[in-house]
Amino acid sequence: TRTAVGIVGGGPAGLMLAHLLSLSGIDSVVVEVRSRTEIEQTHRAGILEQDSVRLLTETGVSDRVLREGFRHEGIELAFGGASHRIDFEALVGATAQLYPQTDVFTDLADARERDGGDVRFGVADVAVHDLTGEPRITFTDAEGRAQEVCCQVLVGCDGSRSLCRRAVPEGERRQFFREYPFAWFGILCEAPPSAPELVYHHSDRGFALISQRTESLQRMYFQCDPADDPESFSDDRIWEELQSRVGANGHTLRQGPITSRSVLPFRSFVQEPVRHGNLLLAGDAAHTVPPTGAKGLNLALADVRVLAEELERALGRQDLGLLDAYGERALARVWKAQHFSYWMTTMLHRLPDASDFDVRRQEGELAGLVGSTAGSTYLAEGYTGWPTSRA
Ligand code: DHB
Repeated sequence: TRTAVGIVGGGPAGLMLAHLLSLSGIDSVVVEVRSRTEIEQTHRAGILEQDSVRLLTETGVSDRVLREGFRHEGIELAFGGASHRIDFEALVGATAQLYPQTDVFTDLADARERDGGDVRFGVADVAVHDLTGEPRITFTDAEGRAQEVCCQVLVGCDGSRSLCRRAVPEGERRQFFREYPFAWFGILCEAPPSAPELVYHHSDRGFALISQRTESLQRMYFQCDPADDPESFSDDRIWEELQSRVGANGHTLRQGPITSRSVLPFRSFVQEPVRHGNLLLAGDAAHTVPPTGAKGLNLALADVRVLAEELERALGRQDLGLLDAYGERALARVWKAQHFSYWMTTMLHRLPDASDFDVRRQEGELAGLVGSTAGSTYLAEGYTGWPTSRA
């Protein structure tokens, strides 16, 4: 098969890129090792920035995001025994939308199917070749046949364990990363919401985040050890961990059967440059953020929005040198989001060796933030999303 843009990875980044390219009349082929069902059964984050919602609605991917999602005009920060609201709408005139990544994926996969897009789920043995010349993707398709896709440009949207990222020679890339000595224990439970908006809790026992999904299904997280085995926690212990953290700030959770549980790793990571010859990296393949700022999916969508514009320009003029503009535009946002995610994370979590001083200092930071219009506005801007740089 020949195509203009070969895309490795059929998650939200890869499918949104294919969708945007098709709107500009540019052909692509997407290959993905997981099956569609497998991706749809993985629980991921739930918060969309205002521009992510706009991208989904204005390009004809989803109106379900507005019908079934929930508009959140703010969040609560709870610490030192009380809750404080950050009012996004009042501070920056923007909102966030609660709509799970799994649904974003389903909407994108449906849109590709509706528009006759070439997406190969469930492939194996993916390899990429000739990245500085005429790139190729080889793989075994779902029926076990060897396949090859030849393309002008190859885009790696293959997530945090990216093989495309590793195809860049060591001498030509830099990796920036930071690990954290904690993780999140995430659950889904069948219960009514405990609060109308997201509540981020700082407490002596550590962090907790109370999120929602629907009127009858809730998503909650609490800080745990990265080595914790989710199956070794009894339901009672999970509720004890959650209730004790939110209880310290005067909240009580409505409990119900726990239907899913997992431990989510924490990492900050960027690989630069995001271009190597005719290979480009986008989304988690190029960078990972810890989940606290709800930035991962939004950054991936912002990347491919910029990338689609730059690909249209470069392929239109048959000048692939123009693709350098992608990295310049995308990385500016990536590093702002890296800082925002790091900042939210370190402000709200308890380090394993935290002293009483450290905990009180964090409470001082949070009090300074919620008591300051300037501080709260920075949080509101970052959370609802910065504008995308202009072409
Ligand atoms: C959710 C996940 C996040 O990482 C976050 O910051 C906010 C919400 C969620 O799954 O609902």
